[in-house]
Amino acid sequence: MGDHEHERAPQGMDTTKPSVARVYDFMLGGKDNYEVDRQVARRALEVAPDAPEAARANREFLARVVRHLAGEAGIRQFLDLGSGLPTRGNVHEIAQSVTSRAHVVYVDHDPIVLVHGRALLAVDDTTTTVVEADLREPEAILGHPDVTRLIDFTEPVALLMFAILHHLADHEDPGGITARLMDHLAPGSYLAVSHFHNPGEALPEVSRQAYSAEKIFNESLGTGRWRTREEILAYFDGLELLEPGLVPLPEWRPEADDLAEPGITYHTFVGAVARKPR
Ligand SMILES: C[S@@+](CC[C@H](N)C(=O)[O-])C[C@H]1O[C@@H](n2cnc3c(N)ncnc32)[C@H](O)[C@@H]1O
Repeated sequence: MGDHEHERAPQGMDTTKPSVARVYDFMLGGKDNYEVDRQVARRALEVAPDAPEAARANREFLARVVRHLAGEAGIRQFLDLGSGLPTRGNVHEIAQSVTSRAHVVYVDHDPIVLVHGRALLAVDDTTTTVVEADLREPEAILGHPDVTRLIDFTEPVALLMFAILHHLADHEDPGGITARLMDHLAPGSYLAVSHFHNPGEALPEVSRQAYSAEKIFNESLGTGRWRTREEILAYFDGLELLEPGLVPLPEWRPEADDLAEPGITYHTFVGAVARKPR
């Protein structure tokens, strides 16, 4: 890492260790990353050369989901957990382009998201804000004063968990945490998830690639779990899955202007949206 990178790093930020948010930023073509992050990205690209396409497919999925929720589904409140660094097409921009009254709270545990997010995302603190909190402490998120200031939990909420649950290990109980959060939300709320997927014996070659990527993530970032279809579907227990169910991201209600090209990660990144029954 060059000295100038230390100089550029905001105070208090550790640029000696890679960060999930910054590696993902690199995959999306962003500039908020350091050499230590790019080294991880290069290792991941060796087993998944189309990882940037997968990241793009995830952002396109996010945009289609948020447009649907703010539009047809009539949702006015969005809680975006593991929101990541600001990028093109942020949740509040998409939601507020459909309905200017949409409230959006971004939550992330990485300080860099807070530094950049406060500057770029929280353009209007009365509708949009960024909170530093950890998904592994759901009560702290639900009770955070900035969350309760913008989110009325007596009304439906869209709980967005794009590319975050696979960063929780099994012993951290991502399913139990999701259930706890959904329990707190009013009937008519929604859960949207995108998640790394290991298709197992159905697609042996893809499965091997998923295991290799999982190994690299765990060695370099200390996190990453490519779960089975059954494990991912379990997040939606008790909820009504919207059509087309749990599918590779480009297959969820595709639109003509989607750009992501299907590649080898096509079957290793899936998503779904579900509604909490009234
Ligand atoms: C791959 S990025 C996804 C960003 C965005 N949601 C998207 O899908 O485009 C994952 C984000 O989750 C955050 N994250 C990972 N574990 C977390 C945790 N336990 N609590 C809060 N945020 C977490 C990371 O810091 C990172 O910004």
